[in-house]
Amino acid sequence: MTPIIDLRSDTVTRPSAGMRAAMAEAPVGDDVFGDDPTVNMLEERVADLLGKEAAVYVPSGTMSNQLAVNIHTQPADELLCDVNCHIYNYEGGGPAILSGVTCRTLDGDFGILDLSQLEDKIRNPDDVHLVKTRLVCLENTHNRGGGRIYPIEKIEAISQWAWKNGLIMHLDGARLWNAIVATGIAAREWAKHFDTVSVCFSKGLGAPVGSALAGPKAAITKARRTRKLLGGGMRQAGVIAAGCLYALDHNIERLADDHRTAQILARAVADTPGMTLEPTDVDTNLVWVRIAPSLGSAKDIAARLKREGVLVHTAGAQKIRMCTHLDVSKPQAERAAETLRKVVVKPILV
Ligand SMILES: Cc1ncc(COP(=O)(O)O)c(C=O)c1O
Repeated sequence: MTPIIDLRSDTVTRPSAGMRAAMAEAPVGDDVFGDDPTVNMLEERVADLLGKEAAVYVPSGTMSNQLAVNIHTQPADELLCDVNCHIYNYEGGGPAILSGVTCRTLDGDFGILDLSQLEDKIRNPDDVHLVKTRLVCLENTHNRGGGRIYPIEKIEAISQWAWKNGLIMHLDGARLWNAIVATGIAAREWAKHFDTVSVCFSKGLGAPVGSALAGPKAAITKARRTRKLLGGGMRQAGVIAAGCLYALDHNIERLADDHRTAQILARAVADTPGMTLEPTDVDTNLVWVRIAPSLGSAKDIAARLKREGVLVHTAGAQKIRMCTHLDVSKPQAERAAETLRKVVVKPILV
């Protein structure tokens, strides 16, 4: 049987034999007591990579982002973010539920905000009617923005303005690794424009579990306390942290392969009538596609692809997302591209 090509997300990867061996051999201790040497090593490594004083290991990117929102704000504060960002759309209303914070959303260009959109958004802190503008959250690369890379000059302009005006900057860098590999700009160069940065190991890096929040020591100490409160204090977490260390050692540079395989899919979309890339340039490993109603719905296309052994993610009535990762080889990407071309000419048998 031909193996399934799973393009739904870069979270579907399974740990390799080498990663599993590293996990099995990891020295461990009780991390809530600060005794797990592997977790400690990972936290120090991430802090160093991002040029921050400290980092805390957490179970997921959602927890990492929500810890950041929580430690930087008070109830009745407001954060500014792009309307399509993960923190606002896919974290279960976390800012409202966990921190009593409202999100003021701005229409980015495929997730990318320009300083001019933010400049007049700071509310008068002396007006008793208003929430207090406290935090700016950016996402790089931008998931719903089609894997787009934030131009670093735009980030710099936003952070200079934010800091000058007493706001705090947080980066959702779940896929920062992809931006690093695609641009050659080092992790700490991106991170220096933010107070805190969240990174994930379970997306393109292929580890089974975990994210980290990095920032100033006092902020991370506070985040550790909130992590415990939310049930994220883990014990012998070195077993999973070892997978993350392995991923940092082995799986960063190879993200360039995922960017190349994404181009194979992008080309197939570009020359398939009725399918449009959104955005038209694919920067990294995410390929978002608008489906013309004449081809059927996104669900119809996904069902036809599935019958041919290719899984994609549907997002809304007419959009699909395909995501390349370390379990999608070049021949598999080529087969997926061929399948894509094929299913649109087949009669609909839904
Ligand atoms: C940009 C971005 N941020 C945060 C997350 C949340 O990560 P997790 O699924 O580990 O909670 C995701 C998940 O896909 C994401 O794409």
